[in-house]
Amino acid sequence: EDHLSKDLPLRNKKIVITAGPTYEAIDPVRFIGNHSSGKMGFAIALKAAEAGAEVVLISGPTHLDISHDNIELKRVVSTRDMYEAAHAEFENTDVFIAAAAVADYRPKTVADQKIKKNDPSLNLELTKTEDILASLGAIKKEQKLIGFALETNNEEENARKKLEKKNLDFIVLNSLQDAGAGFKGDTNKIRIIYPDRKLEFDLKSKTEVAQDIITEVIKMYHA
Ligand code: CTP
Ligand code: CA
Repeated sequence: EDHLSKDLPLRNKKIVITAGPTYEAIDPVRFIGNHSSGKMGFAIALKAAEAGAEVVLISGPTHLDISHDNIELKRVVSTRDMYEAAHAEFENTDVFIAAAAVADYRPKTVADQKIKKNDPSLNLELTKTEDILASLGAIKKEQKLIGFALETNNEEENARKKLEKKNLDFIVLNSLQDAGAGFKGDTNKIRIIYPDRKLEFDLKSKTEVAQDIITEVIKMYHA
C-alpha cells in the first residue's frame, strides 16, 4: 500500500453504490425504463474512491463510464439483476448508497416474441419489483445504509417515512422545486435527513453534492 493513501478518511472502507435506471423487459425488443442519467451515483463513486474507499458501483444502463483504481463497475439491466448484485456484495460492505432510480413495477410476463400491433389497445399487467434498499434494511447489521428520495409533495414527511421504513442511517431528499435540480441535469438541491436532524444544502453541481454526501459518510466514522 502506498504512503499517499494511508491518511485518506475512508481507507479500508468498502462502499457499494447503485446508480442509473433499471430496465424491465416487455418483449425481446422493448422495455420499461426511466430517464435517470446515473450521474449522481457515478459522482458519489468517484468521491468515495478519492476518499480512499474500495468502491463497487452497480449501475443500470447508462452511457457513463468510470475509471479509477479503487472502483469496480458492475453493469446490470433489470431490477432483479441489481437486487442480486447488491445482495452479493452486502455482507462485507461498510456503507451502501442507493442512488439508482429503480423501476417500481415490471411486466408480469415477458412476451417470447415481439408483440405485434394487432389490436387497437394493449394492456400490460405490471407487478411490483423487489425493493432493493428495503430488503437490505431488513438484514443490515453494522452496515450504514443511505437512500435517496425524490418527492413532489409532502417532501420531508415522505422522505422520513422512507428513512424509517427502509431502516436507513440517512436519506438524501432531492428537491424538484428548484429549477435545475433533479433527474437528468447536472445540478441537484438536496436535504440530508437523519432520524433526529436535517441539513439543507444550496443548489450545486452533482460533483459537489456527491462530496457533501461523502463528507457526511466520513463524519460517521470520524465523529
Ligand atoms: N429503491 C430500491 N429498490 C426499489 C425502489 C427504490 O432500492 N425497487 C431505493 C432507491 O434507490 C432510493 C430509495 O429506495 O434510494 C427510494 O426510492 P423512491 O423511488 O424515492 O421510493 P420508493 O420506495 O420506490 O417509493 P415511491 O416511488 O412510491 O415514492
Ligand atoms: Ca420508486
